[in-house]
Amino acid sequence: MLKNLLLPLKIKSMELANRVVMPAMGTSLGSDAMVGEPLLAYMKRRAKGGAGLIITEVTAVHLSGAASPNQPAVYDDRFIPGLKKLADCVHQAGGKVAMQLHHAGRESYYLLKKGEALSPSAVPSLMLRLVPREMTREEILKIIASFGQAAVRAREAGFDAVEVHGAHGYLLMQFLSALSNLREDEYGGSLTNRARFVVEVLQAVRQGVGDDYPVLLRLSVEEFIQNGYTVEDIQTILPDLVKAGADVIHASVGTFGSPGLIFCAPSEYEPGFNACGPRRSKKRWMCRSSRWAVLPTPFWPMK
Ligand SMILES: Cc1cc2nc3c(=O)[nH]c(=O)nc-3n(C[C@H](O)[C@H](O)[C@H](O)COP(=O)(O)O)c2cc1C
Repeated sequence: MLKNLLLPLKIKSMELANRVVMPAMGTSLGSDAMVGEPLLAYMKRRAKGGAGLIITEVTAVHLSGAASPNQPAVYDDRFIPGLKKLADCVHQAGGKVAMQLHHAGRESYYLLKKGEALSPSAVPSLMLRLVPREMTREEILKIIASFGQAAVRAREAGFDAVEVHGAHGYLLMQFLSALSNLREDEYGGSLTNRARFVVEVLQAVRQGVGDDYPVLLRLSVEEFIQNGYTVEDIQTILPDLVKAGADVIHASVGTFGSPGLIFCAPSEYEPGFNACGPRRSKKRWMCRSSRWAVLPTPFWPMK
């Protein structure tokens, strides 16, 4: 697997010089949801490292989904010039850059405190213990559309790809998980229904950016919590996610409340500790499609 690490890779219109990928990491360096000098300075340093692809941190697609007031945002055209500077930093160093599109759902302490956090159902946040508000159908459709619009802005800002954040207990995963989604409409119940929100987000993104633009989906393939979903469950919906527009499944694990907060695993974990989840999710479907890859965290193509 590692022998391919420094080889180039083409994903739709994006040509990577190598397969080293820096996954998204929140920096708390945004200011009033805008990209400022501290974030640009941080990104310039990262880009100098020579990774083929850098995925920028969680970027809010809608005001109702900001994890903090300072988190970089992409829900309005006014953010495009700052985001463009961020993309330029990576391009100037010869790398490619993807924007991570994010809605925190119930995992936003500042929105929970104001009683404004949204989620598929009014189930308390596992970490923050406060209760979000159940989304109406209109809100669901509005947030789906906002992912599509955000992806178009990312492309306008010069990003080479987008990554839809469907992992780590945020809004998309709150729909996927039977522990946080108690809905009785078509967005709740069976796994197919719970995955509908993710599918429709991907469709909106794909419709916005067109066929040739790379769309990644970050997914926790194992919930790592009592009665949570498993890799075997995720295997059953992967074909729908790919059909809806995901070119890459960037496999991670865990949610808020998983022991050891495994999705932000400390350096005590062995390198590659997480590779078994992606490997297991990939096994069943790989032979059926050459269009996509399941990438582990740390993230590299498994061909
Ligand atoms: C401070 C911090 C911030 C993070 N922010 C994000 C984020 O914005 N989006 C995301 O998908 N993952 C985020 N992660 C998870 C990382 O992308 C990565 O999956 C995790 O740190 C595991 O590291 P590894 O890839 O070196 O095993 C964050 C992790 C840390 C430690």
